[in-house]
Amino acid sequence: MPIQREPWAEPYKIKMVEPITMTTPAQREAALKEAGYNTFLLHSDDVYIDLLTDSGTSAMSDRQWAGMMLGDEAYAGSRNFYHLEEAVQKYYGYKHLIPTHQGRGAENLISRILIKPGDVVPGNMYFTTTRAHQELAGGSFADIIVDEAHDAKSTFPFKGNVDLKKLQAVIDQHGAKKIPYVSIATTVNMAGGQPISLQNLKDLRALTNKHGIRIIHDMTRVAENAYMIKHLEKGQEHRSVQDIVLEICSLTDGATMSAKKDALVNIGGFLATNEWDVFEEARNQVVLYEGLHTYGGLAGRDMEAMAIGIGESVGEDHIRARVGQVLYLGNKLIEAGIPIVLPIGTHGVFLDAKAFLPHVPQTAYPAQTLAAELYLDAGVRTMERGVVSAGRNKETGEDYMPELELVRLTVPRRVYTQAHMDVVAASVLRVHERRASITGLKMVYEPKYLRFFQARFEKI
Ligand code: F0G
Repeated sequence: MPIQREPWAEPYKIKMVEPITMTTPAQREAALKEAGYNTFLLHSDDVYIDLLTDSGTSAMSDRQWAGMMLGDEAYAGSRNFYHLEEAVQKYYGYKHLIPTHQGRGAENLISRILIKPGDVVPGNMYFTTTRAHQELAGGSFADIIVDEAHDAKSTFPFKGNVDLKKLQAVIDQHGAKKIPYVSIATTVNMAGGQPISLQNLKDLRALTNKHGIRIIHDMTRVAENAYMIKHLEKGQEHRSVQDIVLEICSLTDGATMSAKKDALVNIGGFLATNEWDVFEEARNQVVLYEGLHTYGGLAGRDMEAMAIGIGESVGEDHIRARVGQVLYLGNKLIEAGIPIVLPIGTHGVFLDAKAFLPHVPQTAYPAQTLAAELYLDAGVRTMERGVVSAGRNKETGEDYMPELELVRLTVPRRVYTQAHMDVVAASVLRVHERRASITGLKMVYEPKYLRFFQARFEKI
């Protein structure tokens, strides 16, 4: 990243404020116990700075709020759907659009349409809901991300890249007919918010073309990925983020989008495709799972806010400040010697819980433990991204033991100031200073699907 010589400030001013609760240590201890040491089960009223997720937590602009008033709440053919379709075609270049209530609604549709039992879906690491839908449709996931992505200490700039040799091996083993598509995320959330390079995507396109395999793009944070390409990839520095986003999309055949991230809305998503047959099938199935194909579970006003948010998301000032704020927090922690995933991700800072709490074995959930301790310290809510999130192998029933055992400090877009980031950094340092006294957790309740959302724990 270019060194930041000048101080920077947020490229917006505040027009409305939302007071947040300050809690005492005793209140936090009671709330945490009540929540089974799972930050997902805390009441947000008990949280001071909420870094659980960047999903649906963005502040909308005055233009988006104005757009909400222009909602056309017709059951069929709402004008806001056509605005959204125009925005998707203009900024992302995909031909056909199916709105969904959020990203996983689109993942459900594409998995049901393209995956047959016994199929294999290679991907640049997995995302929890994406893989769950692939498995529900009878497929299995194959990890083809570069090895560097599994190494929290590697500073390789494009940890989201695909290792083409790994993909070739999957093709050789199963045959291209068993691979309905390659699943590519921009950026890779579970690797720590790491980007894929444009060159790697082009090479991937060439290889998949040779075998007639589609690329389906999880474009949840595509503008952030494009920003990193602009700053890190040779020859890309003079291009606009908007232009790079379009090129990324043009190298893929379709996309699932959680508009709750990049696109700056509190709810919404879509499936986009360039293939008429896939579109037609999705238009049939969306009626069963989401709603009619011109609203897909969304109100007209939600679609309008999304259409406007998509345009804002590729604005140079916006994306520089968005990623810049995350880098600010990450650099503060690096300077203080806190072990984090390098390079700093685009949507959050990921603490390396194995290095932070080396005395807590992975079977005692170091990342879950650290997230709980961070909440106790100052009311900062974060998220486990380690063995609890990884879940169990559906064949053997054994826990996946991921290399990466992380706590994610995810920064909502346009919500917190730099001063909030200073408070967060100070809290992490305090917990780090008393790390030797921290012991692990045991799981006392485990739900069947996506267990991290509702699992409960007790102190060992
Ligand atoms: N893909 C990626 C890369 C995601 O990060 C998410 C959501 C989804 C798909 C699913 O989208 O939530 O709209 O259904 N990530 C959130 C997070 C939950 O906190 O990282 P959704």
